[in-house]
Amino acid sequence: LKRSDRTNWHILLSPRNAERAQRLSRLPGVAVAESNQQVADRADSLVLAVRPQIAEMVLGGLRARPGQKVISLIAGLDRGRIAALIGADPDLICRAVPLPFVAQGRDATPVFPPDPDALRLFDCLGQALAVHDQKDFDLLAALSALMGSYFGLIETAAGWSAHQGLGPDLARAYLGHLFANLGQVLVDAPQDLATLRQDHSTQGGLNEQVWRDFGTAGGSSALTGALDQVLARIQGRS
Ligand SMILES: NC(=O)c1ccc[n+]([C@@H]2O[C@H](COP(=O)([O-])OP(=O)(O)OC[C@H]3O[C@@H](n4cnc5c(N)ncnc54)[C@H](OP(=O)(O)O)[C@@H]3O)[C@@H](O)[C@H]2O)c1
Repeated sequence: LKRSDRTNWHILLSPRNAERAQRLSRLPGVAVAESNQQVADRADSLVLAVRPQIAEMVLGGLRARPGQKVISLIAGLDRGRIAALIGADPDLICRAVPLPFVAQGRDATPVFPPDPDALRLFDCLGQALAVHDQKDFDLLAALSALMGSYFGLIETAAGWSAHQGLGPDLARAYLGHLFANLGQVLVDAPQDLATLRQDHSTQGGLNEQVWRDFGTAGGSSALTGALDQVLARIQGRS
């Protein structure tokens, strides 16, 4: 946020992680509060970013101010529950799913409902995506759970090629550029996804063969099944 030239907000940090808070407080306009409650007492907008596993315990001891905006990054905790825990107005609570790319100012961050202040905040870290529907927000959150599998797919392919004798540096450099270029095509190209897949698969060729074998072995259904399970967890159904 402080690297962005689009904001000069003052930021008041929780003292919880003393080392991190101390380091960040060297930046202009950043201070460390004495407690979480002091942040809630003083901030115009309160950002909640503790892990879901401890959220109920931490938020249960916190009181929001009347009229205070709340931006929650906590996965799987809905607005009604947050409102009940901290005594905030549910209509003033919004949720966002920032990914680690915010650090480079390159994230596309879903914000639901699209509160103007929250949109402005995440526009400073890349691009905010205005989401008007709870279900859409849950689905985008489920898709964000693909990051580990993205690296896992590359790890599996690199492991396979290493087993065949390819040096790991060569495999990593090649796969890194392959996937970076494909990501750029995905962002830039107007074609739908099936067309992009076909355009990158010669008829009767190697790419077509891998995709067919992946599907036949249950790869596609494993992926959609895993996303079903993640969505159920996000929506509190499992
Ligand atoms: N990482 C992602 O890609 C991602 C994506 C979407 C959503 N989220 C959500 O974002 C939230 C944070 O995730 P993260 O990956 O950034 O986790 P993280 O690195 O573990 O950050 C959590 C922070 O909360 C602090 N904390 C712990 N107990 C606290 C307390 N009682 N009061 C105040 N702060 C406290 C931790 O401090 P200590 O280090 O001292 O424990 C740590 O700085 C989670 O709710 C997660 O669901 C993360």
